[in-house]
Amino acid sequence: MPSTPLHTLLLSTQVFNSSCPWSSEIEQLRELYLSPSTGAVVTRTSTLDGFAQDLKIHGHAFLKSSTSSFNTYGYSPHPLPYYISAVKTILEENPSSTKPFIISITSSSGDELSEMASMIVNLRRELGDLDSKVSRIGIEINTSCPNIPHHPPPAYTPLQSFPSLLSPMLASLPSSQTLGLKLPPYVQIGQFNDLVAYLETTVAVDGSASKISYLACCNTLGGVLGLGSELSDGGEGEFDVDSFAGMGGEAVHPLALGNVHRLSLLLSASPHGSLRTISLIGIGGATDSKSVRRFIKAGATAVACATALGKKGVGIFDELNA
Ligand SMILES: Cc1cc2nc3c(=O)[nH]c(=O)nc-3n(C[C@H](O)[C@H](O)[C@H](O)COP(=O)(O)O)c2cc1C
Repeated sequence: MPSTPLHTLLLSTQVFNSSCPWSSEIEQLRELYLSPSTGAVVTRTSTLDGFAQDLKIHGHAFLKSSTSSFNTYGYSPHPLPYYISAVKTILEENPSSTKPFIISITSSSGDELSEMASMIVNLRRELGDLDSKVSRIGIEINTSCPNIPHHPPPAYTPLQSFPSLLSPMLASLPSSQTLGLKLPPYVQIGQFNDLVAYLETTVAVDGSASKISYLACCNTLGGVLGLGSELSDGGEGEFDVDSFAGMGGEAVHPLALGNVHRLSLLLSASPHGSLRTISLIGIGGATDSKSVRRFIKAGATAVACATALGKKGVGIFDELNA
């Protein structure tokens, strides 16, 4: 199967995992990396110092009736240095592989996010990845987790939130850095237009938007209540049916397809050439090869999944590739 370029990364197939608790531990990351059916591996989102996870309030559950999930997690309990060390270990174990890792990070501070991105660039330098034509390490900024009290997803207000959050990092990243933004599901045209306006304003002012290589659509849909009787066993945490959750899986597939297609149309119509180079990763209800094909038809370069991985294990990628 021919490889698919994603800026400086080379995807060995067009399907892989999206950031989730099943890409949280080094053993899970190694299993995902060694599967011939994953084109890349995305780590669970980390913060600089680790997130205080409490399984009394954080957890996940699956729906009985479809491959769909509810979750109330924040971010990984492991801090970014854990993922830097895990990625270094696995890449050193597989020196001849070009399969990339994408390290997912987040912060509500632009300076801290810039510091975190520099730590990842330093890892690339250490591994000789900065001088190589094909990179093995990308960065994804999670701007869309719906489950953090008092911190609504900044990607719902890109014109207000993105300049201070992203500009310090964009100013310092090398051009060889593959960088993605993980977006929430948008539900009306004004939200898409605001994102594109942010990208166009930034690129027109200082060229920064051209450093964004891809948009990952979408994160989970927030504000959802899980109905106890419809949830199956096999989750984690004392999942409280009264807690607001983020929903993923088949239940959000049409919305995710619509987001990819809308962004594909808007980016390709942009007068700014650099916006037309931004790739889209389709995420949301990829559970079989048909859903993968739908995302590609809607405009995605590649397709990732979390819920199906959590429910079915790493073997799901054989099915997605079929
Ligand atoms: C239990 C769970 C935890 C998740 N944690 C993260 C996360 O840490 N960072 C992130 O960017 N997305 C996270 N997501 C969102 C997924 O990466 C994905 O965008 C979303 O679930 C839609 O894809 P799916 O339908 O394949 O699940 C999580 C999803 C689930 C189900």
